[in-house]
Amino acid sequence: MSDIIVSEVSKSFGREVLHSLSFTVNSGDFLSITGESGSGKSTLLGIMGGVLRPDKGSVTVGGTDIAALSEKELAVMRRTRLGFVYQFFNLIPTMTVRDNILLPLVLDGKKLSDYQKKFDELAMFTHLGGVLDDYPETLSGGEQQRAAILRALIHDPEVILLDEPTGNLDSENAHAVMTLLSDLNKKYGVTVVQVTHSEQGAAYGNRVITIKDGRLL
Ligand SMILES: Nc1ncnc2c1ncn2[C@@H]1O[C@H](COP(=O)(O)OP(=O)(O)OP(=O)(O)O)[C@@H](O)[C@H]1O
Ligand SMILES: [Mg+2]
Repeated sequence: MSDIIVSEVSKSFGREVLHSLSFTVNSGDFLSITGESGSGKSTLLGIMGGVLRPDKGSVTVGGTDIAALSEKELAVMRRTRLGFVYQFFNLIPTMTVRDNILLPLVLDGKKLSDYQKKFDELAMFTHLGGVLDDYPETLSGGEQQRAAILRALIHDPEVILLDEPTGNLDSENAHAVMTLLSDLNKKYGVTVVQVTHSEQGAAYGNRVITIKDGRLL
């Protein structure tokens, strides 16, 4: 079980941005985090994904306290048990889509042939079969977003965390990405946590929390 337990998490950047936040995401949830710009959503998601460390409090994922891990352990955790998708995709421009997607496996010294079946299945699932040998800049925003999602899924994470997955997409691409996340959640049981500005986007999930000035509403 990969429940995420956020317990009394605080974070300051000069001033306190998150004020002792506590909540639990149950395994299999599709949670949307909403709130005004500057309310602390990306900061919270980063802490939940082990990208940022809290100043106080803890985040446990499936029983592992991620704040207590060393940088090295955290990097492995991020690559394997958590999938983090940044707002602006973070695809590496000098690598093909395929190599971008395989990068987490390469970094972990995995034998790529062991993942061929998984790779093909995910490429089909995300409808990216036709662009795998292209470079990211030649892809549409929606394709880049799906490639970033596929890269986050290659390790079979328990949880995928996404910052504004449809923020840069038109409505058609946004719908395709949200349908993908919904299928991922329902068919594969992956826990999904997304930050979103959009009410429509939040409606794909089963739960919404709202942050205002670093506190839960
Ligand atoms: N690395 C940083 N250094 C300094 N201040 C930061 C940093 N990251 C975030 N902040 C501040 O923390 C507050 C919350 O930022 P955060 O990015 O979490 O907001 P957000 O809810 O994601 O906003 P948006 O909807 O605009 O993306 C903001 O006031 C921001 O300026
Ligand atoms: Mg943000």
